[in-house]
Amino acid sequence: LASVEVDLAPAAVGQSLTVKWRGKPVFIRHRPEDQIKAAQDVDLGVLPDPQPDSARVQKAEWLVVVGVCTHLGCIPLGQNPGDNRGPYGGWFCPCHGSIYDTSGRIRQGPAPANLVVPTYAFTTDTKIKIG
Ligand code: FES
Repeated sequence: LASVEVDLAPAAVGQSLTVKWRGKPVFIRHRPEDQIKAAQDVDLGVLPDPQPDSARVQKAEWLVVVGVCTHLGCIPLGQNPGDNRGPYGGWFCPCHGSIYDTSGRIRQGPAPANLVVPTYAFTTDTKIKIG
């Protein structure tokens, strides 16, 4: 499918949804306040691929990223309760240890770039259309 509509309502604060779009997983996280704050408070100078959180989200509580590691394409952990999310509370790629933060930005490890934010739009307060 070229585009996919996703109802965000089932994801309570702190929960995640994973949907498939163009054969790839898309990670959606309903970020709690502490994760939003952590994402916003980072000094951009420490980021390998500097991007402010505000450039990566449309609404601060919803992060939407393609769930494919930008190193060699593994699927990072962090979507399921109990997953190892790494020290920045985002995602951890088990293949070669890349570590992403709560904005999906690369913080440590061999991945060269942040998790990709797909094209999407809110169609209602709690629905998005990806693609
Ligand atoms: Fe993720 Fe290599 S594919 S760290």
